[in-house]
Formats: sequence, C-alpha cells, structure tokens
Amino acid sequence: MAITHPNQRSERRFCAARSASVWLPALAAFAFATASWAEDARKGAVPEKEVQAKLQYCKVCHGVSAQGFRGYYPIPRLAGQQPTYVENQLQAFIEHRRTNNVMFNVAHSLSPSMVTALAANFNALNPQPLGGAPRQLVATGGKIFQDGLPDQDIAACAACHGPDAAGAGIIPRLAGQLYPYVIDKLVNWGKERGQNPKTPDTSAIMSPVAHSLNKSQIEAVAAYVSTLK
Ligand code: HEC
Ligand code: HEC
Repeated sequence: MAITHPNQRSERRFCAARSASVWLPALAAFAFATASWAEDARKGAVPEKEVQAKLQYCKVCHGVSAQGFRGYYPIPRLAGQQPTYVENQLQAFIEHRRTNNVMFNVAHSLSPSMVTALAANFNALNPQPLGGAPRQLVATGGKIFQDGLPDQDIAACAACHGPDAAGAGIIPRLAGQLYPYVIDKLVNWGKERGQNPKTPDTSAIMSPVAHSLNKSQIEAVAAYVSTLK
C-alpha cells in the first residue's frame, strides 16, 4: 500500500524543503528585516490610546473580534494569529513582496512600533470561527492536513503549521481561518506572494505545497482548518 507510512514520507518532504536553496536567502532576508524593525520598535512604545484607535480601524474590515469577514472578497481572521507572521506580512505588503492594494494603503503608514503593538493585540483575541464551509469536505481535509499526500509528495501541513494549526513564528495560524480566504490564497500563491525578485522571502517555503495541491484538495483542507478553534 502506498499510504503505509505517510508521516515518514511527509517528514522526508519537509526535510527536503528545508534543505532546498530557497530557504537560505528567504531566512537571511527575513532575519535582516526583523532586526531593523526590532530596532525601530525599541525606540518607543506607542501610547495605548493610539493603539486602540488604530485597532478600531483594522476591525472595520477584519471584524469586531478580528474574526474575519465574508464579504464581496474575503477578509482574513487575525484573531490568535502569530505576531511574527503578522509583522512579516505587513512588511511584505509595504515592500510589494505581497500584492494587495487595500493592505498596501493600510500598512505603509504604520510605524514599526505600532505594528508590533497591533500584532500582540490580535494574538490575544479568540472568537469562535466564522464557519460556513461545506461539512462533507472536512474529513478529507483533515487527512490531508495531518498526513499530507504521500502519492503527490506533499508534506503534511501539520509538519509546519502544527497539529492544531496554531502556527509558530513566521508560520501562520490556520485554525479558524475563513474558508474562501484560504482557497483564494492557495490558488493565487504564485501571483500574490514573493513578488519582489530582489527580496526572496518566507513565501518560498510554502510555494511548492501551494502549487502541488489541486482545486478539490485545496477546498477540502480549507474546509478543515476553517472549523478548528
Ligand atoms: C479596508 C479594509 C481593511 C482594513 C481597514 C484593514 N485590512 Fe488588513 N486585510 C484586508 C484584506 C482585504 C486582506 C486580504 C488581502 C489578501 O487577500 O491578500 C487583509 C489582510 C491582512 C493581513 C494578512 C493576513 C494573513 O492571514 O496573511 C494582515 C496581517 C492585515 N490585513 C492586518 C491589518 C491591520 C493591522 C489593519 C489595521 C491597521 C488592517 N489590516 C486593516 C482589508 C483591510
Ligand atoms: C515546509 C513548511 C510548510 C508546509 C509543509 C506547509 N506550509 Fe503553509 N505556510 C508555511 C509558511 C512559512 C507560510 C507563510 C508564507 C509567507 O510568509 O508568505 C505558510 C502560509 C500558508 C498559508 C497562508 C495563510 C494566510 O493567512 O494567508 C496557507 C493558507 C497555508 N500555508 C496552507 C498550508 C496547507 C493547506 C498545507 C498542507 C497542504 C501547508 N500550508 C503546508 C509553511 C508550510
């Protein structure tokens, strides 16, 4: 049987991805970027009143508890998100490494210390997932998430995102993320992320996975993570 040792296969794929040449420039660039941001952030904490006012602004789109919003285009959940991931993505929007006009306009005026404060605030929120994904896809999605797809040489999502999809550091939490948002990101990965060839970034780590999944596998795994608390 091909699916005898899915975890072993995933582990191998994970290690292969880690040793791939994409990792080194991505992480070096990231380490450099965080260092300069951290330095700016140390220069002074933002007054709490200003942080709260800015949070209100973010919540106009991302929802009152940052639970996300299912509108004309999906707006992602930020509640419980990893602070380092949030900071990294805001910087990616600013540097046009990640394309999105709405978030470029929002992010480019934020100071590094404000970004750090906002990221910490979102991490502390824990609303119920919005839900709404087709229930019949959840079981299949759970299997892909936990075991990967050994036949297609796709690593278990859990190997990086964690068994409960909580994420860590530069790796995002996926638990409770909106079903249509996850689909949209995975389908459009190569058109939205890593768009500045001069600054290779952390999106390269996820790139092979996003490109290997087909549409129905994407829908299944999106349904699964959207139900996790
Ligand atoms: C006008 C609506 C709007 C406002 C206001 C807004 N956002 Fe967003 N945000 C979006 C949309 C839309 C996306 C999804 C972009 C995409 O699809 O790539 C997004 C994505 C993000 C992401 C990426 C999340 C992920 O999972 O990768 C972060 C981080 C983020 N926003 C932070 C903020 C912060 C912090 C604020 C307040 C300073 C804010 N946003 C205000 C609309 C908004
Ligand atoms: C080798 C490690 C690794 C594996 C395996 C992996 N991911 Fe990721 N994933 C990442 C990293 C790192 C990011 C952040 C990329 C960035 O900085 O742009 C990410 C980002 C994502 C995002 C974007 C989230 C957002 O809020 O915009 C989604 C969705 C995602 N991964 C889904 C998956 C799924 C589904 C699987 C399994 C089929 C998977 N990942 C497997 C490392 C991984």
